[in-house]
Amino acid sequence: MDERLKDRAAIVVGAGSTPGETMGNGRATAILFARAGASVMAVDRRADSAEETRKMIEAEGGTAIAFEADVTHADDCRRMAEACVEAYGGIDILHNNVGIGTGGGPTDLPEEEWDKVLDTNLKAMFLACKYVLPHMEQRGKGVIINISSLGAIRFPPYPMLAYSVSKGGVNTLTRSIAMQYAHQGIRCNAILPGLIETPMAIEGISEQLGMPKEDLIRMRNEAVPMKHMGDAWDVAHAALFLASDEAKYITGVLLPVDGGLTCKG
Ligand SMILES: NC(=O)c1ccc[n+]([C@@H]2O[C@H](COP(=O)([O-])OP(=O)(O)OC[C@H]3O[C@@H](n4cnc5c(N)ncnc54)[C@H](O)[C@@H]3O)[C@@H](O)[C@H]2O)c1
Repeated sequence: MDERLKDRAAIVVGAGSTPGETMGNGRATAILFARAGASVMAVDRRADSAEETRKMIEAEGGTAIAFEADVTHADDCRRMAEACVEAYGGIDILHNNVGIGTGGGPTDLPEEEWDKVLDTNLKAMFLACKYVLPHMEQRGKGVIINISSLGAIRFPPYPMLAYSVSKGGVNTLTRSIAMQYAHQGIRCNAILPGLIETPMAIEGISEQLGMPKEDLIRMRNEAVPMKHMGDAWDVAHAALFLASDEAKYITGVLLPVDGGLTCKG
């Protein structure tokens, strides 16, 4: 049995999943953390989706609670941190998975869309960290994992300005927190998923682009040096490693999980 996260309390933000044929990165990570022995707080703005994750974890004999929060709101982040401390006695791991995407460049992207993407993908991570870090500081330990994107460091096939900028911000947020808290036993790393087969990416983008799902899947598989997309478990396994003591000397890292896409010329 995997005991890498035994006796750890983990908040997974965005632990629900966009409905679809596969599973989102946050849900897979919540499940994997629980399999490794963590007590999980599955947080999502969609209560039903967080609840579904909780049920999946409990069906496997794991420990989880579901918590409804919109992490773009400071008060929800404060409540989330307090509820985890109350339920599990502290917070060992904060996994920030929430992210939304939208296409568009500077001239065609509506201002409200820019604000929504930056608030959801970047400000929400700042707020989650803001209210969780004091609890970690108090105990002199903790791990934060932020889900960024390859879109932060490579230009996507079509302009996604707000998304790319927000994820670039996530990278900087990660490294800044890592540096500020390294001497206090708190680590902070980011994962940069490449092309992952999740419902948000497949069902979401095919609808956005008006492209049949099969064509999108073929195109995404073809773009990867390994010739196939990753799945939510690939991201979750990287998160589990970073959350565990196996990564105790790793902080401030931006880890691509991308089937070699970053190396492609
Ligand atoms: N799928 C990919 O190809 C891919 C590639 C690169 C990066 N990523 C990143 O992975 C992360 C997860 O992607 P996914 O495909 O699993 O998406 P997903 O939509 O399945 O999961 C995200 C969850 O976050 C929740 N959420 C959204 N806004 C929220 C808010 N304000 N407060 C609380 N919860 C909120 C959603 O309800 C959803 O359940 C995102 O950050 C995304 O940018 C995905």
